[in-house]
Amino acid sequence: MVNKLLCKEQDSLLRTLQIINENARGVVFVTNEDKKMIGLVTDGDIRRLLLDGVQLDEQIGAHVNRKFAFARNTDNVQDIARKLDDRVKIIPILDQSDQVIDFYEIGNKSYVPVAAPSLKGNEFKYLTDALLSTWISSKGKYINRLENEFSEYCGTQYGIAVSNGTVAIHLALVALNVGPGDEVIIPDLTFAATINAVLHCGATPVIVDIDEDTWCIDPAKIQKALTSKTKAIIPVHVYGTPCDMGAIMSIAQDKGLYVIEDCAEAHGAEFEGKKVGSFGDISTFSFFANKIITCGEGGICLTNNSELDKRLRKLRDHGMNTSKRYWHDEVGYNYRMTNLQASIGVAQLERIDEILERRNEIKGQYQTIYQNCKEVVFQNKPKYDSKTVVWLVCALIEGKDRDEMIEHYKSEGVELRPFFYPLSAMEIYAKYAPEPCPVTEKISQKGINFPTYNELEKKHFNAIEKVLK
Ligand SMILES: Cc1ncc(COP(=O)(O)O)c(C=O)c1O
Repeated sequence: MVNKLLCKEQDSLLRTLQIINENARGVVFVTNEDKKMIGLVTDGDIRRLLLDGVQLDEQIGAHVNRKFAFARNTDNVQDIARKLDDRVKIIPILDQSDQVIDFYEIGNKSYVPVAAPSLKGNEFKYLTDALLSTWISSKGKYINRLENEFSEYCGTQYGIAVSNGTVAIHLALVALNVGPGDEVIIPDLTFAATINAVLHCGATPVIVDIDEDTWCIDPAKIQKALTSKTKAIIPVHVYGTPCDMGAIMSIAQDKGLYVIEDCAEAHGAEFEGKKVGSFGDISTFSFFANKIITCGEGGICLTNNSELDKRLRKLRDHGMNTSKRYWHDEVGYNYRMTNLQASIGVAQLERIDEILERRNEIKGQYQTIYQNCKEVVFQNKPKYDSKTVVWLVCALIEGKDRDEMIEHYKSEGVELRPFFYPLSAMEIYAKYAPEPCPVTEKISQKGINFPTYNELEKKHFNAIEKVLK
């Protein structure tokens, strides 16, 4: 197709006009004898040249516009898309020797990212209110509201808002006195924040494999990984699917272990009619911008234990004594959330049901698009009684090269995301996996996430369907 947009510098104005007429793009990219692009000419340029008396048989080379927007074949689609606007509707894509290898145009290639926050409720109103109140640091009504309302939503007594989901896990571990000499069991399929938090508190992570159907930590593998040093388990409700909390809590109770639920990807999910986040000693959530609800950056710890609530609050605020200001009982952290962040979170929480419903609908739309495509396999619901939420729509790619598919969609302006790599596959973490994790390895290689956000429109689904075809 790109050939239809090319002409040579020796071509006449007439020939150039014919090429423009055939390609119906209103433009040609002009190349020299080395096939390097030297400039471009639009149909408007030719009209002006003719009005100025230039003859139709003159060579176009003398009249090209040598200052033109272009992209390189190494640029990512998002950066390329940014170069287009109302004026520049089509740009050439050049390789390192300035030869035209492709082009990018407005209209048929709108960029569809994998995630985008939906901020169409009271987010702006509450944020402005927080700003005008001048309570822009870590005190203010929105912090209290977020802590109370989110813990109530999840069915727990206490909520401690923090600056992000990673420090929420770290704070939880420290509050439970997990440290050097202790082992903490975690799944192989998770975002690195889970393992990093364990390492940051000086404990030893023990990576175990996931369940083939739920992609969550496999309770049988937890059993196998227990040692006399095991102090805690961090189940991760990955991609919105609740872990088998019945089995996990029973192991923990049996062995006297702490459970920290990492719910960063599963706001609103349920196990046996109870919200995730209400099972563990402490649970943690992330409110990063790609999460189900967001504060921009932010997180929260939930607990039903009043002593842990106090400890988490104190550690969040430099270990400062709560009744004697500037008196420090232990070495703590500044892990506080700002009132500005919380104001967005409160507005998001007002819309969580609507957001979750929309995400379900989106999953349904993908299932319809790919219903006749046996290579795209969606996850079944867990066998246990649970309510899965859609963080990012997931599927496994069977019998096709997953990475090739991602590249192909990317070239068409649609972002698909591969699943997390197994932690155990990375050099810095591999030594923490006592046993191989073949299930994670398999799922990780096949898994993709589809664009999942409230504002996905028909035109986006049409674009995705077009790529599929
Ligand atoms: C499973 C999991 N845990 C923890 C985190 C960390 O959250 P944050 O990015 O807010 O630090 C994330 C988020 O990316 C996550 O997906």
